Formats: sequence, structure tokens, C-alpha cells
Amino acid sequence: MRVLVIGGGGREHALAWKISQSPLVNKVFCAPGNAGIARVAECVPIKATDIDGLIDFVKTNRIDLTVVGPEAPLIAGVVDRFEAQGLPIFGPSKDPAKLEGSKVFAKTLMESAGIPTADFWVCTSAHEAFNCIRNYYSAVEQGTRLVIKADGLAAGKGVIIANGEADANRAIERLMQSRVFGSAGDQVVIEECLVGEEASIMAITDGNVIVPLLPSQDHKRAYDGDQGPNTGGMGAYCPVPILAHDTVDLAVEKIIRPAVLAIRDLGIPYRGFIYAGIMLTEQGPQCIEFNCRLGDPETQAILPMLESDIVPLLVGVVEGTLDQAEVRWRPGSAVCVVAASEGYPDAFDPGKDTSHLLGREIHGLPALEEREDCIVFHSGTTFRESSDPTEVRNVVTSGGRVLTVTGVGEDLLTAAGNAYLGMDQIHFDGMHYRKDIAARSLHLS
Ligand code: AMP
Ligand code: GLY
Repeated sequence: MRVLVIGGGGREHALAWKISQSPLVNKVFCAPGNAGIARVAECVPIKATDIDGLIDFVKTNRIDLTVVGPEAPLIAGVVDRFEAQGLPIFGPSKDPAKLEGSKVFAKTLMESAGIPTADFWVCTSAHEAFNCIRNYYSAVEQGTRLVIKADGLAAGKGVIIANGEADANRAIERLMQSRVFGSAGDQVVIEECLVGEEASIMAITDGNVIVPLLPSQDHKRAYDGDQGPNTGGMGAYCPVPILAHDTVDLAVEKIIRPAVLAIRDLGIPYRGFIYAGIMLTEQGPQCIEFNCRLGDPETQAILPMLESDIVPLLVGVVEGTLDQAEVRWRPGSAVCVVAASEGYPDAFDPGKDTSHLLGREIHGLPALEEREDCIVFHSGTTFRESSDPTEVRNVVTSGGRVLTVTGVGEDLLTAAGNAYLGMDQIHFDGMHYRKDIAARSLHLS
């Protein structure tokens, strides 16, 4: 088989790496890929959202299966466009992808399907939102937290946890009046703040059969001890000892299955990966959000734990034969740690000039290549441009999150040790990473 992976981050590196190990696959391509993906796939310079370019490539290069990594092409309808031309592709089509693309759609579906989630209100104007906030604070204490969410995609910045009424009103001003995220803030969801341990529960589904992946836990804040600004994710580990043994089953039965069935009732099967961000509250798991793809960096911890071939699962979804595919996990744990660029995340807000923070040479990569207990997945890397074709092509930074080092081992402590031993070998100017990934569960392992 010839497989194309769409995307160019750490999640796509892990996908391409795993797919390239399959005996069913003789060639992997990645659009656009990055300097690390180039070691397991042929990278082609087509943007993940250039759907016409991707279709052309797939036709001329006789690709048997395309696998979509990020949400943007899914929400833009890449799957619908491929299927209209009879091209096999893995991922949900445009309507089901609204589970991630629209918080209003997702919350409304959760409510109608009886999925446990925070109480919420949808507001379509700033006036309505200010009224909603005033009503809420007339019945609760001033300092009570309230969550304000832009309806549309906002580069991971569209969720604001307000520490009281004034803060909540400021969030509405930014989203709906200053329109900092444009039309993504035309509608907002205002919801109650849940308290508890968060976890990422992902599954693969053909619309009928649901195969859960191992549970994982992301670390969204930039600095140790969950301090500092929110990021795309600074590290993850799997499985998660602090979760009760039945958490995954509960999340599948109460959250993921009802969502997949509710989507099917709308007339479109949900095919692909589905990601439920959950909060373990005293009332049991509640759904915080859905994503229509795998998590990043969670994937970089989960896929190294998958012992069986991933390709029969992907093909099983496309052909509706997922029930026949085998899933086998290796024993032990995986911990992945993200190395980020100087200034990440604030200096990397959309629209900011980051050129002075990028292009920095990454040292120490070759020493890690032979190790099996420590794998480097690249996120924001590229090759330094050189006019001399004989020069060794140096790998340099090209994004806020630069790479992930995943350690695997017989238990969480060994896995974390392997990840940090690997990270010790890598260096670039301004590099920073969290030193406490998996710490919340380490005392239990
Ligand atoms: P999202 O963009 O929906 O992933 O939300 C980003 C983060 O905001 C989540 O990972 C949670 O940590 C937090 N969050 C979102 N909704 C809630 C909520 N209702 N209660 C508490 N935290 C929340
Ligand atoms: N790690 C969180 C996400 O991928 O949305």
C-alpha cells in the first residue's frame, strides 16, 4: 500500500512512524511533513488545507489510503471532497467534524444525547451574554469561576476560565465586541466550571464499532506545577494510574458511544478518531470537549504503546470492517515531553512575528536514533536552507512546539526517566520543557 499522511506536527510524525512499520505498507508520504517525518516518509510540499493540491497528488501518485492528522482540513471538508472522487480517506467528514469545529454544535449534541457535561448557555450577541453572566452571578458568589468559549476554532485560545463576573464580562468584550478571533466569536458558550482530574480518552470508530485507545493525560500549562499560560500541550503520559480502572469504559459508554450514535442519527456516520476531553468530577466523568482527531502530544505517548499494526485499524474504518482488526498494547507506560521554543506560547500568538525565535539549530538528534526506549517526534522542525547541495542538512526549529521526546518503559517511572534522559541529549538556544510530566501519577506507579 501507498499511504499519505496529511499534516506536519508531532502527531503526524507518530502516525507516519507507526504506519511505516506496517508490513502492509511499502511507501509513506506526508504533506507537508517536517524534518523528522522525512526520516520515515517522503515529504511533499503541499499544505494540509490545500485540498485541490492533495487530490491532485493522490491521483497522480496512486495513493491507496490518505490519513488526516489535524482538524483544519477535516473541518474544511477534505474527507467529503476525497470521497466524492472515490479516493479512500481516513477521518470524519465535514458535518461530524463540527463536534470540534463548533462548541455550540458539540454542546447541543451532548445535551440532546444525554452526555454528562457542564450546564451551559448559548449566546448569540454580547447583550445576551452580559445578561446571562449577570443572571448567573445573581445566584452564586462573585469569585465563582465561569467558563466562556468561542464557538469556532481559535487556535486553542478560545476558552477563557473567568475568575468572577468582571472577568467573564471582559472575555465577552474580547470575543464578541473586539472580535479578537473574528467570526469564531459570533456565538459563545457560557458554562459552569467543573472541578476534577482531566484526562484524554480517544477511540477509533467506523460509526458502529468503537475501539478505545489507552487513556492519557495532557499538561496544558507552560510551566511546572501547572503554572503559566495555556499551551497546545507540553507533555503527556499513558496509561493514567490516577484514573479508576473503569474510567475508559464509562467514558466510552456515557460519552463517546452516545456521540457517535447521535451523529449517525443525523444521517452521517462518524468515521475516524474521536477524542473526548473529560473531567472526573464527584458525579463521574463529564465531557469537556470533543475533538475530531487524535490529541497532540497525547498521540506521541499512545502510539509507541500500540504493539499491533495500526494500518488494519485505519483500513477497517474506511471499509467498515473495524470489528475484524486486532488491537494489542504493550505492557508498561509511555511519557512524552515537549521541547518548546524561546517565548512559547505567548510570543507565538497568531499574527506575531516569530522569525527571530526560529531557525535555531537542534543538536543531539543523531545520538537518540538507535534507541528503542526513547523516540523523538518532531513538531516544528525543518532543514536549514543551504546553497551547497553537499552540505549536511542541519535540522533547525520552525515552530513554537519543536519536538517531543517519548520514553517507554516497564512502568511510568522508567518511562519518564527514559524521556528525560533523551531530552538531556538535545539542545537548541532558548529551549524549554516541563520537568514534571507524569508527576501527578508517579506516586501511584
Ligand atoms: P477546550 O479548548 O475546550 O479544550 O478547553 C481548554 C481547557 O479549558 C480544557 O482542557 C480544560 O482544562 C478547560 N475547560 C474547558 N471547559 C471547562 C469547564 N467547563 N470546566 C473546567 N475547565 C474547563
Ligand atoms: N492535547 C490537546 C489537543 O490535542 O487538543
